[in-house]
Amino acid sequence: MKLIIINGPNLNLLGTREPKIYGKETMEDCLMRLRRKYLDTELDYFQSNIEGELIDKLQQVGFSFDGIILNAGAYTHTSIALHDCIRAITTPVVEVHISNVNDREDYRRRSMIAPACAGTIQGFGIDSYRLALEALLELRKAEDEK
Ligand code: DQA
Repeated sequence: MKLIIINGPNLNLLGTREPKIYGKETMEDCLMRLRRKYLDTELDYFQSNIEGELIDKLQQVGFSFDGIILNAGAYTHTSIALHDCIRAITTPVVEVHISNVNDREDYRRRSMIAPACAGTIQGFGIDSYRLALEALLELRKAEDEK
């Protein structure tokens, strides 16, 4: 099973960025924990602050990987280009947010990418990534059993 976590803008600052909202754990710690726990899963990671680079990465992995865990950060709320890209690729994408975006500013309530994704996990802190990984494993299992 080959999965990738793709993080958008400002998520390279996890650990120091607004710790009351996003927690104190770094993405490196999170990745280490997930890689140790899911030994049968190859878990890649990519982060960019640039919309076009996120699109390039999605296109690059989106026809060969088994699943994509995408935290598009603020682009979630603005990017039709990311929406179109997720629709264009064949690998299922799970949208992730560390915070509960429905319990924050109004402008975070709308996700441009949600309709194109297989589903959304949000509000469970950094554990949202693990829950998304579980969701993708289950999705793949269900597809294999068809
Ligand atoms: C976020 C929520 C977004 O609204 C915000 O712009 C982020 C992080 C989250 O993980 O909670 O950068 O995606």
